[in-house]
Amino acid sequence: ALRPMVDPFGRHVSYLRLSVTDRCDFRCVYCMSEDMAFLPKQDLLSLEELDRLCSAFIARGVRRLRLTGGEPLVRRGLMRLVGRLSRHLASGALDELTLTTNGSLLAKFAAELAAHGIRRVNVSLDTRDAAAFKAITRWGNLDAVLAGIAAARTAGLKVKINTVALNGINDGEIESLIRWAHGEGMDLTLIEVMPLGDASGGRLDRFMPLSAVRTRLAERFTLAETDHRTGGPARYVSVAETGGRLGFITPLTHNFCESCNRVRVTCTGTLFMCLGHDDAADLRTPLRAHADDGALHRAIDSAIGRKPKGHDFVIARRRSEPALARHMSVTGG
Ligand code: GTP
Ligand code: 5AD
Ligand code: SF4
Repeated sequence: ALRPMVDPFGRHVSYLRLSVTDRCDFRCVYCMSEDMAFLPKQDLLSLEELDRLCSAFIARGVRRLRLTGGEPLVRRGLMRLVGRLSRHLASGALDELTLTTNGSLLAKFAAELAAHGIRRVNVSLDTRDAAAFKAITRWGNLDAVLAGIAAARTAGLKVKINTVALNGINDGEIESLIRWAHGEGMDLTLIEVMPLGDASGGRLDRFMPLSAVRTRLAERFTLAETDHRTGGPARYVSVAETGGRLGFITPLTHNFCESCNRVRVTCTGTLFMCLGHDDAADLRTPLRAHADDGALHRAIDSAIGRKPKGHDFVIARRRSEPALARHMSVTGG
């Protein structure tokens, strides 16, 4: 029988973000340091173990599953995992299987993703300017990402663009990014940069409160509140001039943790109850120690029983230290 996961604040956990690798083919300045050390391959859960973990969470009421990374598409054999996981879509156990990607390998995988029942993907893109793109991603190739987005759309996938608002990097481009995305029929969501991990890119100076961005955008666009929700933290407005939707993810200026419905599992099987806290539970040990899932479910129960109320990120001038040592690429956003 299904035992739903309910935390101490009465929130139902119905959404799992599974990071399938800590690796990435980019090194975004706010996300990773340039010499980021990656996990040894033997620490990673196998594709079979990832699949089993997903089944356990689905048995506990997870209805939406998002694959993240690092960059999920660099994980070898990922299409096999997606193919396996798609059986939960077919059976109706999952409402959605999706992924968040930097887009660099989408051209290669879009058709296969669509064939496995993926209906939409979120693509991270902070700028369409080649020089700024290099400055943000260090190693990234903008043309590959744009080709990936095009391929995804050709394959019939809905694409949402995620843009981290970065003062001094893309602040002058936000309006044109919106016009571009909406002109192509894609929603765009702006994200406030969060103090995660030691990234030497001067993140503190990069932070822009989206409340201010929104005020500025309101001088150019007619913005209207909508009740559109994708089950995530984004709040959406409609833009009359473009006919598109604009989302805001505001961990710093407007806390949305009250309605949190999610947990995260890393590629080593570590369960994080909150993006903004270090407390975690090891699921790899019970997974590997027993062929049945009893111990795994007990570990999940105990972890959900201490899911914190929310993050307590602050961006303050006097604090140059990151709020958490853990990088975003470990927990997958
Ligand atoms: P949709 O299903 O399209 O709503 O996706 P989503 O916004 O839930 O997921 P996506 O991967 O697009 O998330 C974009 C970014 O939002 C993440 O990389 C994080 O930066 C941020 N984010 C998502 N969920 C949380 C959360 O629970 N807490 C915080 N602080 N940030 C989050
Ligand atoms: N703050 C906010 N967003 C971040 N991302 C990575 N690091 C951070 C951070 N410190 C975003 C990426 C991508 C998603 C997976 O997470 O830009 O959109
Ligand atoms: Fe890679 Fe995404 Fe981190 Fe950029 S934000 S380095 S694309 S994992």
